[in-house]
Amino acid sequence: MSPTIDGKAILVTGANRGIGQALVTEALRRGAARVYAGTRQPYAHQDPRVTPLALDITNEGQVGAAAAGVESLDILVNNAGVFLFDDLSDRAALERRIPKASPQSVEQGILDAVEKGEDDIFPDPQSAALAHGWHAGPAKALERQNAALLQPQPIASQPVPGKGARQ
Ligand SMILES: NC(=O)c1ccc[n+]([C@@H]2O[C@H](COP(=O)([O-])OP(=O)(O)OC[C@H]3O[C@@H](n4cnc5c(N)ncnc54)[C@H](OP(=O)(O)O)[C@@H]3O)[C@@H](O)[C@H]2O)c1
Repeated sequence: MSPTIDGKAILVTGANRGIGQALVTEALRRGAARVYAGTRQPYAHQDPRVTPLALDITNEGQVGAAAAGVESLDILVNNAGVFLFDDLSDRAALERRIPKASPQSVEQGILDAVEKGEDDIFPDPQSAALAHGWHAGPAKALERQNAALLQPQPIASQPVPGKGARQ
């Protein structure tokens, strides 16, 4: 049986906005008995079941005080965090991604794989790390099953405009 929120005590960090705020609202709607709302900024909520906690999750003192102030807890949602979007039109941001493999090593990896008759090519160390998962995965298995259904057919001669059919 899946656990229910009804009657539970839940602590949400980063509760003042975004996903954290939505979690608080939904936990209350689902009947949570107590919602501890951890925030960096002063915070108030009109529902009496909500207990604000001053909680910067990088501040050990505040984490300790929050732990001491919470009587009992069923669910902790450690939601607080930052999610930075890089501007992909910014070349500098792109270059901070990952170290790039040299064009020469990638080109060799591609052509080596072509010559070995490999269907899927992972020509640099970053992509090579994904190769095993891809080869052993369900998408590849489906591809193999579908390929086995097809019988190789010669390519039909196509008429060339003005020259009749090719031989
Ligand atoms: N939204 C997405 O698509 C997405 C995707 C992957 C992962 N996530 C993760 O999901 C979580 C919530 O995302 P969101 O979109 O709701 O983010 P958001 O709107 O930026 O809200 C982040 C929340 O975390 C709080 N926070 C940040 N650093 C904190 C700290 N040191 N101590 C306490 N609170 C802190 C913020 O408080 P302040 O208001 O004080 O800044 C804010 O309440 C984040 O951890 C994010 O990395 C989100």
